Amino acid sequence: MLIHDTIAGLRAALKVSRGGTPAIALVPTMGNLHEGHIALMTQARGYADTVVATIFVNRLQFRPGEDFEKYPRTFQADCEKLVAAGVDHLFAPTEAEMYPRPQGFHVVPPAELDGTLDGEFRPGHFKGVATVVMKLFQIAQPQVALFGKKDYQQLMVIRNMVDDLNLPIEIVGGETVRAADGLALSSRNGYLSTAERAQAPRLYRLLTRIAEALRTGRRDLATLEGNAMAELSSAGWAPDYVAIRSRRDLQPPADSDAPLVVLAAARLGSTRLIDNLEV
Ligand code: PAF
Repeated sequence: MLIHDTIAGLRAALKVSRGGTPAIALVPTMGNLHEGHIALMTQARGYADTVVATIFVNRLQFRPGEDFEKYPRTFQADCEKLVAAGVDHLFAPTEAEMYPRPQGFHVVPPAELDGTLDGEFRPGHFKGVATVVMKLFQIAQPQVALFGKKDYQQLMVIRNMVDDLNLPIEIVGGETVRAADGLALSSRNGYLSTAERAQAPRLYRLLTRIAEALRTGRRDLATLEGNAMAELSSAGWAPDYVAIRSRRDLQPPADSDAPLVVLAAARLGSTRLIDNLEV
């Protein structure tokens, strides 16, 4: 695996600056790689000859007071995992390389997507994500890019960005990888204490119950959501939302046949966990 910390270095290696573009699949990450990331790297190999991973903890998508500073940075271990996964190139720029001056232009998601769910609780987050992903797309010029479904709203923001701005990139969503007890793998799981880790699969169990209720025909969505919020609160969690939404646009479903997704975000101690299940 070749490691690049400059845009020019990556571009020269990929020969995009000379127009001899190989078929590139890009997997953007913020590092602290787990099996969910590695599954995306493996999946990427099915789409392209050249797999490029990126590791960049993107300050733009963190709000003041969030975990930018303490976000786990495990570069050596990540490199070993990427080599074992057969990744061809790793782009791991410094902040100065990505943002040599304060970022002036941004990609701003539309209000209906940005002002709901995580966008409501983390204002500016998806603007930061969309902006850095657009920059990574311009830098690596992939034909395919892969993102995990665990960050369901992020995946939708990126799909919409690519559609609205006519980017010639296929966006592929990778299935969420879970621990044996159901907890969705996430870099932030490392913040959990032993006691919190034992509690954490409750979120997945709750989503599973709601998804089953929906599959058996329940459509009292507000009741299902309200009960789930109350259950999390009484178990000592601080839920931001439990929401049943249309998979198409993440809005409350307009008709009872709409394909659905159940999404939740809740704080357990000081760790904010998110998860979702397609119904
Ligand atoms: O999902 C992530 O790790 C990040 O949000 C991403 C897509 C790499 C952008 O910084």
